[in-house]
Amino acid sequence: MLGLYIHVPFCKQKCTYCDFASFPKEMGKVESYFACLYREIEGRSKQYPNRRLSTIYIGGGTPSAVDSKFIAGAIRKVRQCFEIEDGAEITIEINPGTLDEQKVKDYLSVGINRFSIGLQTGFDDQLKKLNRIHTAKDFLLCTNMLKGQSMSADILIGLEDQTLDQVKKSIDLAIAGGVNHLSVYALTPEVGTPIYSDYLNGLLLGDDEVAEIYDGVVAYLKEKGFDRYEVSNFCKDGHYSRHNYNYWYRGEYIGVGVSASSFMENRRFTNSFKIDEYMNAIIFNKSPEISSDVIEGDDAKFEFIMLGLRTTKGISIDKYNNTFNADFDKEYKDILIKKGKFLIREGDMLRIKPEYLYVQNDIILSFMKS
Ligand SMILES: C[S@@+](CC[C@H](N)C(=O)[O-])C[C@H]1O[C@@H](n2cnc3c(N)ncnc32)[C@H](O)[C@@H]1O
Ligand code: SF4
Repeated sequence: MLGLYIHVPFCKQKCTYCDFASFPKEMGKVESYFACLYREIEGRSKQYPNRRLSTIYIGGGTPSAVDSKFIAGAIRKVRQCFEIEDGAEITIEINPGTLDEQKVKDYLSVGINRFSIGLQTGFDDQLKKLNRIHTAKDFLLCTNMLKGQSMSADILIGLEDQTLDQVKKSIDLAIAGGVNHLSVYALTPEVGTPIYSDYLNGLLLGDDEVAEIYDGVVAYLKEKGFDRYEVSNFCKDGHYSRHNYNYWYRGEYIGVGVSASSFMENRRFTNSFKIDEYMNAIIFNKSPEISSDVIEGDDAKFEFIMLGLRTTKGISIDKYNNTFNADFDKEYKDILIKKGKFLIREGDMLRIKPEYLYVQNDIILSFMKS
């Protein structure tokens, strides 16, 4: 399976916690950026010819912050350059403060069929503190415009003084809006972001408090009919994100645009995080990549385990043995004994017990060969 990721590095304003490649002050470059993006799409299609896309994901930044003619243009360009599977999943990320009826019409007309909306919290005072551009009501206006479509919402936990009850109410709001998918992320205080000083000052919730809320969230979402299928992701009636599933199972994907990463033919590569550097490279027919690594041997094996164990399905031992011509049980005999209490083995599938998924990092790291 092949996925395509398109990065749109523009936002109306920067949220206090975010260190993604998104630049509110660069809005004047939207038109020239998209011209470069179209060119990279064409270039990558020549580099990897005759490939069929199963998923497209337009992320950012805030794709819905730019004129929808650019988004439509990007999808049209992709259709010209690649074959797209019938029924392909085509997702766009939306900030509730940026959507209007015309944009929805334009998105649907080019085949976008999944909408991932950044809610973060259903409380206006918290939204304001995070420097979000919208209110809880804007979220409902947004889901109303997208009624009947496949929708997901992002929710953050770990905010200052946040309680489980508040997170549940935020989830209720998302469900009232009609989402069939939820991503519930533990807030990461990234160095250099405004919220990092709150973290240093001990204002954010601690790890144990976040873990406790997370347990409450998992139980609450189960009650509401949402299954957890990955550490931070939940869906109803099988509406998981095909695009993200492909990442976790080491499927191939091409990423275009600023900061976008790709995994093709065992090579992981990432584009420049700077808009001007990226655009200059494309304009002068140079590679926009700033890093490139061929993943083989133990690194490939570790990736297989690390990514697969994030999901509730876990990893297939048979697939591991076939892919790497290896004997998993022999190779990890000691670790399987040492970490056995955290793991479940069913047939050829190995997974982390659901109650330990939240602390999966420690378990996964033990599979890394020094
Ligand atoms: C590109 S944004 C989503 C679309 C749009 N830009 C928005 O914010 O509404 C991706 C998501 O990443 C999550 N995110 C960003 N920074 C984060 C951080 N420091 N810790 C945890 N989650 C974060 C937020 O939940 C956010 O909705
Ligand atoms: S709107 Fe989204 S991408 Fe933009 S700064 Fe906020 S969280 Fe980051």
